Amino acid sequence: MSRGFFITFEGLDGSGKTTQLRRLATALEAEGLRIVTLRQPGGTPLGDRIRGVLLDSRTEAELGGIAPAAEMALMFADRAQSLEHVIHPALAEGAVVLCDRYTDSSEAYQGAGRGLGSERVRAMHAAVCNGFQPGLTILLLPPLEGSLIRARRRNERHTKTRGTDESRFEREGDEFYGRVYEQYREIARRDSTRVVAIEDEASIEAIAERILTIVHERMAD
Ligand code: TYD
Repeated sequence: MSRGFFITFEGLDGSGKTTQLRRLATALEAEGLRIVTLRQPGGTPLGDRIRGVLLDSRTEAELGGIAPAAEMALMFADRAQSLEHVIHPALAEGAVVLCDRYTDSSEAYQGAGRGLGSERVRAMHAAVCNGFQPGLTILLLPPLEGSLIRARRRNERHTKTRGTDESRFEREGDEFYGRVYEQYREIARRDSTRVVAIEDEASIEAIAERILTIVHERMAD
């Protein structure tokens, strides 16, 4: 396989997408493919700085909060940087790029969660990313409640043990996450060729196998 292939992972905080991304990377590497992984926001030095501002809950007090449209613009600034510095170069060299979150996150969180609307997010995607979309998106969407409990627990743990605080989004209420969840389902309905949604709660192992099968099928197309 010499041509590059771009795969994104999407889902709520605590949906298990990061675990699945790592497992897929390991499985594909074992097959001899060149894999590049990154996350958004983050993934470049500039992106890491933007991530700090966006995710640290202290931003609220220190910067007086972030306006929803500013939040969206920062997410896209991060994305533009990783497209130019990481994603496009890796794809040009024939790598498989696995990205933890991409524009669907902006549509779900800023578009629906913050209420900016899908159209504004999609217009920004067209302008900033030239409309560039992955060949496949794995959307992990297990029932809402379990994901949120896991995400909040994990963040408490990280804040205690690593001194990092990335809980700005996890502090949002259930209504916010309800909107994010519904928007993800809408994206999966609308874009049913690109997006494969896994909505049931199976074991990590079983889901990893399903994802690998889907990826093999898509890359063979
Ligand atoms: P991430 O660190 O991937 O969180 P998790 O591992 O919990 O999924 O993402 C950080 C947060 O950023 C997450 O709460 C979703 C949010 N986000 C947006 O709101 N819009 C975006 O465009 C992206 C990429 C992330």
